[in-house]
Parts: sequence; structure tokens; C-alpha cells
Amino acid sequence: MIYIDDIVEPRGCLNVFAARSSIAHGRLNALDLSRTRSAPGVACVLTAADIPGQNDVSPTGTNDDPCLADELVHFHGQPLFAVAAESIEEARAAAALAEIEIDPLEAILTIEDAMARKSFVLDPHTMRRGEPREALETSPRRLRGRIEIGGQDHFYLEGQVSLAVPGEDGDVLVHCSTQHPSEVQHNVAKVLGRPDNAVTIEVRRMGGGFGGKETQASQWAALAALVAVKTGRAAKMRLDRDGDMIMTGKRHDFIADYEVGFGDDGVIQGLVIDMAARCGFSADLSGAIVDRAMFHADNCYHLDNVEITAHRCRTNTVSNTAFSGFGGPQGMVVIERVIEAIARDLGLDPLDARRRNLYGGPGRDVTPYHMTVEDNIADHLIDELSTSARYDERRAEIAAFNAASPVLKRGLAITPVKFGISFTTTFLNQAGALIHVYTDGSVHLNHGGTEMGQGLFIKVAQVVAEEFQIDLYRIKISATNTGKVPNTSATAASSGSDMNGMAALAAARTIRERLVVFAARHFNIAEDEVTFIANRVRAGDHELSFTELVKLAYLDRVQLSATGFYRTPKIQYDRETASGRPFYYFAYGAAVTEVAIDTLTGESKVLAVDILHDVGKSLNPVIDLGQVEGGFIQGMGWLTSEELVWDGNGRLATHAPSTYKIPTCGDRPEAFNVRLWERGENVEETIHRSKAVGEPPLMLAISVPHAISDAISSLSQGRLLANLDMPATPERILAAVENMKAREGAR
Ligand code: MTE
Ligand code: HPA
Ligand code: MOS
Repeated sequence: MIYIDDIVEPRGCLNVFAARSSIAHGRLNALDLSRTRSAPGVACVLTAADIPGQNDVSPTGTNDDPCLADELVHFHGQPLFAVAAESIEEARAAAALAEIEIDPLEAILTIEDAMARKSFVLDPHTMRRGEPREALETSPRRLRGRIEIGGQDHFYLEGQVSLAVPGEDGDVLVHCSTQHPSEVQHNVAKVLGRPDNAVTIEVRRMGGGFGGKETQASQWAALAALVAVKTGRAAKMRLDRDGDMIMTGKRHDFIADYEVGFGDDGVIQGLVIDMAARCGFSADLSGAIVDRAMFHADNCYHLDNVEITAHRCRTNTVSNTAFSGFGGPQGMVVIERVIEAIARDLGLDPLDARRRNLYGGPGRDVTPYHMTVEDNIADHLIDELSTSARYDERRAEIAAFNAASPVLKRGLAITPVKFGISFTTTFLNQAGALIHVYTDGSVHLNHGGTEMGQGLFIKVAQVVAEEFQIDLYRIKISATNTGKVPNTSATAASSGSDMNGMAALAAARTIRERLVVFAARHFNIAEDEVTFIANRVRAGDHELSFTELVKLAYLDRVQLSATGFYRTPKIQYDRETASGRPFYYFAYGAAVTEVAIDTLTGESKVLAVDILHDVGKSLNPVIDLGQVEGGFIQGMGWLTSEELVWDGNGRLATHAPSTYKIPTCGDRPEAFNVRLWERGENVEETIHRSKAVGEPPLMLAISVPHAISDAISSLSQGRLLANLDMPATPERILAAVENMKAREGAR
């Protein structure tokens, strides 16, 4: 397997280093690079003034994402200029010789600062259904609360990297680790001031993306391409871990306020949620991300009278971006907290409060964005899982344990997931594929999706092998390349296999149909007498190998190459009125987590996890299980140990694994029972009735902080809600324990 840094470097390949601002907000007064330019090994130095096209790599045309800072500096760590040298060490040493003068301006660093100053990257947005304010007034019970939810670094094993190779006429080929080759192509062309057809992007695979390579690859690709075009030499730009963590966007952190009205039965009657997300200095994808947080602030629960508002805060920090779940997880954390607050208030088991609020049949099946939920199975999953995981029995066992254990406390929680599948930007729901069958019967497969470890390539190859009824090894899975399938969407929103699987199926079917027409003519039989069976083809009384048929077809001048295209049906959304059907369908799952906490240190440990997840009719159960396990662990890291800290000057203090703790092998739950739902079958006509699996399992990990919070609540016999923000680090758990003890003492 070859990653970009493993590609044999072209002769004379340069290495590119980006020099960063050490001021969060300021005016770039002077940039004296004379000593940098004359340093040993330096071939080229680039500033904003050296950009021939537009100094912008924004994904949506907001024009607020400079490649290199120009006049204004927007965050601590922003690239100011780039140095290309024979070695990366020389480039870094040369960059240190620059004389930089920045006049500091006042910096807005936090969500609270931004809200107070009304500093936004995009306008606030509201979704509404029913009469939420009136419902709050008339509800028998009312609660208010606030929750803070932290961000997350992608921590893909392979950092951002691009290798640009110059061609003729100022053209350039960029090998880039990106989920969105077409967008990188557009941005590189924009920066170079060249048409799109001068730029080719190729991606064989990424060493992980997780959303962090949807928009964040463009800047480095553009700088490498610019060096290549200016010097006529190949140029590689590979960020080291610290640089990657400092210079690239992360999951948005959120603060959410809620006010809920409910009955004595725990059923929600009215809900008002107000969220604010830290977007950083530019819009990037924050419009769609914060929308997705709003779209998932219902999770699996029916909300009759509801108003959800969200603010997109502009801060002088790195611009936040896509991260698995794309805002959805943050929205879901809010509603799950609301449900737990209700349960504690009424003395209900949180599972009962959850069950009473689930979506149901007519009258209880419309989302806050006015879409009817037609495929709800959350109730089935919860029933099956709570039984198989022995929820009730363990609840009693844990209560007994806690009664006898003064310091260590256990907690248990079950949380469901409902995740909307489709890009909420409707036009992005399209995909293309290209298939060639060669005369030896081997197949070349290409499509617009990218491989990042999620198993997309093997799934799409399986679809093609199935269609031709040939062995999988006969299909060559080829690198994603903008010269083969154009105008693609990002491999994102978990829709990679849904969309590229369908596009590839269409291409394979076209070739298969041509082969059928040819065989019928050649053997003088009816078309329905031609069938494909295990590497062979039966044509009436004749039987021949797939390869033999392909050879005969070639000699008869039958075209053995085809494109395929897919557009997701049924979806439409009107953002003005916040209503429509943004999602083709929903993916569902549920998780039970048991934890232990130490009430003297705040440490926590996940003891056991039971998961039941719906992937429809799985295209590949082994890969799907891996996606569920990996997603859960990644979500667990987000909600327990991964904490991003910026200091008072806006400097990211946690920019290496020494200070930023992702889960390790030792953090895996001792018991980790993951099952795919056997009855799963997509009600919609997706590829072989499968369901998307990439992102939804991450949100199963919301059961972890709920189990922690349950353990803390045991200090009040489950009657008080723990004051616990995310991530639930030992410090936060300890503070919540102290707070609980004080409140319990005062009762
Ligand atoms: N799995 C691995 N191993 N590596 C990744 O980078 N990205 C996730 C998910 N699973 C990711 C992964 C994200 S954010 C998405 S949107 C989907 O994979 C994208 O791929 P798919 O649409 O083919 O599922
Ligand atoms: N998910 C992931 N990436 C996206 C989306 C989405 O819904 N919309 C635009 N880019
Ligand atoms: Mo995934 S966040 O949609 O790349």
C-alpha cells in the first residue's frame, strides 16, 4: 500500500514549509524575507503577493480563506509565507530567519466573546414547528439548562500532504490526501489563475480523513502546486503533527442553552434550544455543519412544539471544519442531556424517559424540519438491545454495587442514534463512475469516491463483480482522479458507497447490457437466454468464459467502456422555510455503556459496551463492524479524553499527542459486544438495500458520558442531574462529583 509520502519522489523534488503567525489577530505590517531567500537550499519563497490567481481556498465561495495571510492575520498559527527548499530542515531553518512585524488587534477567542460582540461568520438560523413558547407556558413542568461541548482534532494517522508534479504549459498534477479531489482541483486552479482543466488531482488513498480532508487539503495542495509551477520542479508539502494540529480546522465546539416543558409522564411538550458554535475565523463549511447540528437536535425524539436556533460564531482561531457526524453529534448531545434532565427531575430511569419520547406512528412522526420519519426502528433497536444487554438486571446490580462502594461508583446508560443520510446541500447528492473491460476480461474501475480506510473501494468493487458475476480479484480498483470522473462531491456525509456504488452499478450494467445484446446476436438467440454465472456466460445452448465473450464482443467492435451516474432521488429542502426532505433515509443504532468512576480522582473507565447497529443489508459485514467499532471509540475519545485548550493569546496549547489524548488500546472497553441488526433492510432503494455506516456509529458513544453522568447521579440516588460538560475529563468529572455532593448535602 502506497501513501503519498511513499511515492518515489521525482528528481529534484522540493519540500515546502509554511511559516506561522504568533499573533491571533493583527495587521501584517512588514515581512522582510531577504535572509530567508538567501538561506542555504532555498529555491523559492512565496507570500500572498506571489499568488497569480485568487488568494482564496474557501469551499463555498465565501472568499474568506486566504492561502497565505494578506494584510490581516486572523489566528495564531495562520500561514504567513511558504518556503520551498531542497530539504524540509532547510526550509524550516530559512523560515526562522524572516523578520515579521504584526500590529496586534483585539482578538475574539471564545464563543461567549463572539456572542457578546455579535461576531458571526454567517447569519443565525432557526427551525420551528408548532408553538414552542406557548407550549412552555402551559407545560406542567419546566427546566432550563446549559451544556458545553468540546471540539476534536481529527488525528488521522497520515497528516495533510500533497505532492505536485509540474507538466507542460503550466499544467500540474497533484497527488493529494483529500476527501474532495474536485474541490482541491478548483481551488488549485483558482490560486494558480488557471482553468480547471490545467489541474489534475489524484488520490489513491488517505491514511484517514474523518472530515478533516474535505476542505482542509486545498491550501497545501495549492502551495505545493504554486511552487511546482514557479520552479518547474516537483514539490511536496507535508505537515508535521504539530503543524497539522495548529493550522487545520477541527470539530466545532458548542454551547447550547435549552428550556423544556414536559408533563408528569416525562413527555416533552415544548422545547426551545439555542446553540452557538465556534466556527473560527472563516465560514468554511460551518453553514452546513451547524445546520446538521440543528437537524439532529431531535435525535430519535418527537418534538411537537420546538424551536431550534443556532449562531455561527466568528473567532480568531483556526477555522473549524467537517468532522465525522458533521455537527450532528453536537446536536444529539444536547437533546440527550434534555432527556436526562427530565428523567432526573421526575425520578424516572432515563431509559423510560427516552422511550416515552421516541418517534412513533402518525401524529408522532414529523421532525422539527417538517420531514415525516417513515423508517423509524429506534424502538425496536432499544427493545432488542436493552434485553440482550440485560439493562434492567444490570441496573439493579449496579445499584447494589454503589450502595456498598463509597468511592468507586458505577453508571449505566443506553442511548439511541438516528442519523440523516444525504448531503443537506441537495445538489451534492450526485456521483459518477467509469468502467473499462479489457480484452483479457480484466476490469478497470474508477469512481468519484475516495478511500480513507472506510472500505469504500472494496464495497464498490464488490458491486461491480456481482454485476458481471466475476471474481473480485479481476477488478482493478484505481485511484480517484479528476481526469477520469469530473465534478464529484466530497466523499462525505457517509454517502460514499450509496452514491458511488449506484454509479458504478449503472456503468457495469451498461456494459453488461451491450454484452447481452451482442451475445444474443452472435449466437442467434433471445436476449433473455443470456445469463452471467460465476466467471462464465450461458447463451442458449452455448457456454463460454466471461473473457471469451469479451474477446468476441471486441472483435465485433462493441464498446467495452462506460460511464455511470447517480443522483439520489426523493430529496428536496427549502432552507428559507426550514422544511422539506433533506434526507433520503435515516441510519439507526443504539448502545448500552457501563462505566466506573473514582469519586476521589475523577478518573473514569468504560467497562462494558453493547451495540446494536442497523446497516440495512450489509454490503460487507466485516468492514461495517470495523466502522461501528472505530466510530464508537472515536466518539468516546471526543466525549471523554480529547480536550483542546487555547491559551489567553489564542495559541493552541494541545498540539501534539503529549497533551492531546486520543483513546489508546488500553481504553477499549473490556467487554465490547457489537452486533449488526440482522433484520436490517433499507426501505429505500439504495445499493442492494444497504445503509450508510461511516458516521452514525460515532454518536453511539454519547452513551459514555451518560453512563458517567449516571454514576455521578448515584450520589443523589439518581435524583439530581450531574453538572457535566464535554469532554468528561477527570477534572470535569471530579468537579461534577463535588458539585453533586454539595447539592445533595443542601437538599
Ligand atoms: N473510516 C476510516 N477508517 N477512516 C476515515 O477517515 N471517515 C468517516 C467514515 N469512516 C473515515 C472512516 C467519515 S467522516 C465519513 S463521512 C465516511 O467514513 C466517508 O466514507 P463513506 O461515505 O464511504 O462511508
Ligand atoms: N456532510 C458532510 N459534508 C458535507 C455536507 C454534509 O452534510 N454538506 C456539505 N459537505
Ligand atoms: Mo464526513 S465529516 O462527512 O467527512
